[in-house]
Amino acid sequence: MRCLTFLLLLAAFNLPAQEAPPALTEYLGRQIAQTMHWKGAEWLMRRVREQEEGPSKMREELHVKPGMTICDMGCGNGYHTLPLAEMVGDKGKIFAVDVQPEMIEMLRQNIERKGLKNIEPINGLYHDPKLPPNTCDMILLVDVYHEFSHPVQMLAGMRAALKPDGLLVLVEFRGEDDSVPIKVEHKMSKAQINKEMNANGLTLKREFDGLPWQHLMFFGKTETK
Ligand SMILES: C[S@@+](CC[C@H](N)C(=O)[O-])C[C@H]1O[C@@H](n2cnc3c(N)ncnc32)[C@H](O)[C@@H]1O
Repeated sequence: MRCLTFLLLLAAFNLPAQEAPPALTEYLGRQIAQTMHWKGAEWLMRRVREQEEGPSKMREELHVKPGMTICDMGCGNGYHTLPLAEMVGDKGKIFAVDVQPEMIEMLRQNIERKGLKNIEPINGLYHDPKLPPNTCDMILLVDVYHEFSHPVQMLAGMRAALKPDGLLVLVEFRGEDDSVPIKVEHKMSKAQINKEMNANGLTLKREFDGLPWQHLMFFGKTETK
């Protein structure tokens, strides 16, 4: 009865049932990067991106099939969301999650311009991807993971959203490669990526080393014996 009264009071005063955990500036020896501001969103749609990052090749390597449910985590204004929606087709679905409402608004406008019907935009939280459990065949993070201020909570939420054979796909600028012209805290080495994924119940299943500037690594849930 006391518990019920407490919950009713929380609802009445609109208080969060659970405080957001503190943001990290470092995780497992890596400095966490600042979130890219929505005011820079036009840069995400730059023409030279195709030459610099090979995004079409990257999407080809995802082996997307019609009917799949895919999450574009940290979708920004939808650079990858829109082509992915066409790849999964009418029977498939894209969850497009971002923490900045301005990015989601730009995404909505881009979706409308293209007339796409199979994308669900989601305003995520820094510590909660707001994805339904056990729904995703794949969760794609392009140039996003290194910005997470709450990597542990985000990985737990995404892991729960993956189907048993679902894959979490990281695309990160190569930290081992000085010729990649990106700030150090926006890059990650393979060793660091593996360390952080393994610490959170995810194991490398596949990787593709043919992109100009980025690692492309596929993780599945670590099997427990
Ligand atoms: C560099 S942009 C990349 C956007 C997009 N993936 C692309 O490749 O064009 C990183 C995005 O991640 C988003 N982001 C950062 N932390 C996030 C979190 N915890 N959950 C969801 N999105 C997040 C930022 O708001 C930003 O839009």
